Amino acid sequence: MVDSDELESVCKRRGFIWQSSEIYGGEAGFYDYGHLGALLKDNWERSWKEYFLGLDDNYHMIYTPNILPYRVLKASGHVDMFSDVLIHCMRCETGFRADHLVEDVIDMNVEGLSAEEIDKTIEKHDITCPNCKGALSESDDFNMMFSVQIGPTGEHKGFLRPETAQGTYMNFFREFRALRKKMPMGLATIGSAFRNEISPRKGVYRLREFGQAELQIFFVPGIHEEVFEKKYNAEYRVNVMLVDDDTKLIEVDELKDLPIFYKYHLSKVFEFFTDKMNLDPDSIRLRELSDDERAFYNRIHFDVEIFLESLGGWKEVAGVHYRGDYDLTKHQKESGTKMSIPIEGERVIPHVLELSFGVDRNIWSLLDRGFGDDDRKWLHLPADLAPYHVAVFPLIRKDGLPEKSIEVYNRLKSRFRAFWDKSGSVGKRYARMDEIGTPFCITIDYDTMDDDTVTIRDIVSKDQIRAPITELNDILRTLINKEKTFSEYL
Ligand code: GAP
Repeated sequence: MVDSDELESVCKRRGFIWQSSEIYGGEAGFYDYGHLGALLKDNWERSWKEYFLGLDDNYHMIYTPNILPYRVLKASGHVDMFSDVLIHCMRCETGFRADHLVEDVIDMNVEGLSAEEIDKTIEKHDITCPNCKGALSESDDFNMMFSVQIGPTGEHKGFLRPETAQGTYMNFFREFRALRKKMPMGLATIGSAFRNEISPRKGVYRLREFGQAELQIFFVPGIHEEVFEKKYNAEYRVNVMLVDDDTKLIEVDELKDLPIFYKYHLSKVFEFFTDKMNLDPDSIRLRELSDDERAFYNRIHFDVEIFLESLGGWKEVAGVHYRGDYDLTKHQKESGTKMSIPIEGERVIPHVLELSFGVDRNIWSLLDRGFGDDDRKWLHLPADLAPYHVAVFPLIRKDGLPEKSIEVYNRLKSRFRAFWDKSGSVGKRYARMDEIGTPFCITIDYDTMDDDTVTIRDIVSKDQIRAPITELNDILRTLINKEKTFSEYL
């Protein structure tokens, strides 16, 4: 059982994550990454890029601004439809997201209900303010975008982007030409998104500024699907939860109603969580969203949910969204720029399949799933994502051992993320590395001075092996890349 207070305390104490502007009391919905959190986040983002851009030679990274002009988000539908239902207490004036309030009080899923329907539910169940029991106002739509004035006189209105996707759509026509009109084409980006959430919840789950890693895949159905069909593994097993059904482990091909391009990417997303984030398949599920739950732009929508004890159960961390030609059609109409491409003598607007990940929720998933609080406090992270790959210690601080350990550390640090530590007993140093998830610790002892061998300790089993310094690079590389397991070296 993950003790969320304990996990939060480790995150703060050791330098992972904590609330922003802490010394002024903080502001709900904003979090900072400390030196270890920043390393973990960078490593996750690198792994995400390598994995998803590796799916096809024509998938690429781009970067676009955080601020988007009003016209872009008017065209995309966000100005009119990107809202939650807000309700407030008429006595203490606290604002609540109406669906969350109702769900918390009567344990009923009200996703997709209109403000009017929510009011009726509140009246029927006699729901009052959870803080002071005061009467609640009528609910109202609240647009979640942060607006900004652009320019010194504020002559242009804009918004902080509510999703990174829209900046990518702005670049479709230019990249299509720059990439010599090759399709399918994937454009990925990683960056911040901003939503003025009504009730940011505990920790990094519901933030007002958060990271997104999104890949937009452009293709024309019926024309470019062969590329995906060739790579599709129909027998790949995924954990799914269909609307009104239980979670089950099935071959992806059993999802008969879904097109192959969708099933191919759905299984690749699942594989990212099992193979790159090392999560147990039982802790991941692909949940199909009903018509009421789907975002306004989606035709097919599965969320990836991870079982996170610190947050009380299954939580959404990513989504696979088939947006069809919704976005490019809207932007073609409003901007007057052609988004269509020539196909067999006709002009066709490409469709979009979007793989959308919340960066902070993924980082939290690594911390939650990796946190062990048994006979020791430790963090089990995939070795290539851990802030440090390896720590190097002298057994004691005399007789030339510190100098020898620095020599070893210097050899390793150009190839690996290495950390050197001489303070406290070796037991304490192991404990500190366990707590921040350093997979391997190397100790330099008196034997090292005679025969140039060291001990390597594995964080998971706590087993140790003895190896020559000259072989350290190879051993660590094979362990980090999962070419060999630690037990194979025993
Ligand atoms: N471009 C599609 C899109 O933005 P979304 O489901 O609204 O879809 C994608 O967001 C992902 O971003 C979610 O699966 C979640 O991981 C993350 N996310 C969304 N809102 C968030 C918030 N307020 N705080 C932290 N992460 C959030």
